[in-house]
Amino acid sequence: MPLGFDQIQSAVAFLADRLGGLPPTVGVVLGSGLGGFADQLEGAVRVPYATIPHFPVSTVEGHRGQMVAGSVNGRAVLCMQGRVHGYEGYDPTGVVFPARVLIRAGVRTMVLTNAAGGIHEDWQPGDLMVITDHINLTGRSPLTGPNDVRLGPRFPDMSHVYPAELQEVAHRAAKGMGLTLRSGVYLGLNGPQYETPAEIRMARTLGADAVGMSTVHEAIACSHLGVPVLGISCITNLAAGISKVALSHTEVKDVANAVESRFVGLLRDICPALPQR
Ligand code: HPA
Repeated sequence: MPLGFDQIQSAVAFLADRLGGLPPTVGVVLGSGLGGFADQLEGAVRVPYATIPHFPVSTVEGHRGQMVAGSVNGRAVLCMQGRVHGYEGYDPTGVVFPARVLIRAGVRTMVLTNAAGGIHEDWQPGDLMVITDHINLTGRSPLTGPNDVRLGPRFPDMSHVYPAELQEVAHRAAKGMGLTLRSGVYLGLNGPQYETPAEIRMARTLGADAVGMSTVHEAIACSHLGVPVLGISCITNLAAGISKVALSHTEVKDVANAVESRFVGLLRDICPALPQR
């Protein structure tokens, strides 16, 4: 069954029923090993993905599959603890279904987080990076097929997917915490294999600073719906050819878990400071 507007609305109706009327909110998608933020929300209500109509369920270790609604310092947030990826076999409309549901349910600003490989020799595993822009090199788009204008225009502009105003909120929060926050371009690939060293040289030549297997399709769908995105990557490893060791999902999860408290602290400062829309 195609995951179109009617399916989105039935998931939204289910959530509205479970969560009560939703105020305008900040949406947060938590990537591999970064789910801890949702455990600290005040007044948290949890809704497993498997209970939400049409919701795709993640098969990746390190992704907990539930929606958590709550607040941080009085700011309402709706979090996804875990996401699905193209490499799991979902097509891009399945990958972006949850982001579209969040937005139709009241999310006005989206924070997308992920684990990524860093392309700079002098970066360290555990560094955090604000996404300034992305390169979608998955070869696919969630907007392929007939366009439903209720989700956005046929040919959406992608000049301001990650507004500078939101990046500045992240930089201010990091400064307040004494945390180094990098910034750069995220290049999205399908995966699930990590890149070859030649692919990483290509990514660098193309102007990327980090590579990963998520986020770009969700960011496109958010922008299509007119919702600005703040993207934050946890650099879990140096990318292939830069790293001296073989890449593994265990390393990615371990590093993400090790920086989780810093990452959670940063998000807790960012969310209440995001502009009201
Ligand atoms: N490449 C792609 N995706 C990733 C990486 C990487 O090096 N690290 C974490 N996710």
